[in-house]
Amino acid sequence: MPDSSQTPAISVRDLTVGFGEKNVLDGLSLDVRRGEILGLVGASGGGKSVLLRTIIGLIPPREGRIVIMGAESDYGDTAAMQEIGRHWGHPVPAGRAVFLAHRPAECAISDA
Ligand SMILES: Nc1ncnc2c1ncn2[C@@H]1O[C@H](COP(=O)(O)OP(=O)(O)OP(=O)(O)O)[C@@H](O)[C@H]1O
Ligand SMILES: [Mg+2]
Repeated sequence: MPDSSQTPAISVRDLTVGFGEKNVLDGLSLDVRRGEILGLVGASGGGKSVLLRTIIGLIPPREGRIVIMGAESDYGDTAAMQEIGRHWGHPVPAGRAVFLAHRPAECAISDA
């Protein structure tokens, strides 16, 4: 039986996200383990917020897989996305947003 404690909180594979003719993220992969804190550093406009917004389901990716707490994001499956959405709080309507998991010890995202 798989050990669920070893399942990454967030797993991103080969993620491509873009707008119009431009790809902002191109083949990005990362894992965040439970209890791990990952900081994103990069130039303004480099795609940090786009990555986080894609992870929580606000932007559908062009390619790639996102698995949250073992559940794969499927943008064609509203029920599945609602289930995954239970991990996130409500975005603060100000461009900048803070997203907290209902159980922050397992998974939390902040973009501030
Ligand atoms: N909804 C959108 N439609 C079109 N382009 C977008 C959209 N959202 C973001 N972009 C573009 O995606 C790119 C990445 O933006 P993003 O906000 O992710 O950058 P960032 O790394 O978070 O920057 P900052 O450090 O300033 O917060 C930018 O070129 C931005 O203009
Ligand atoms: Mg940003």
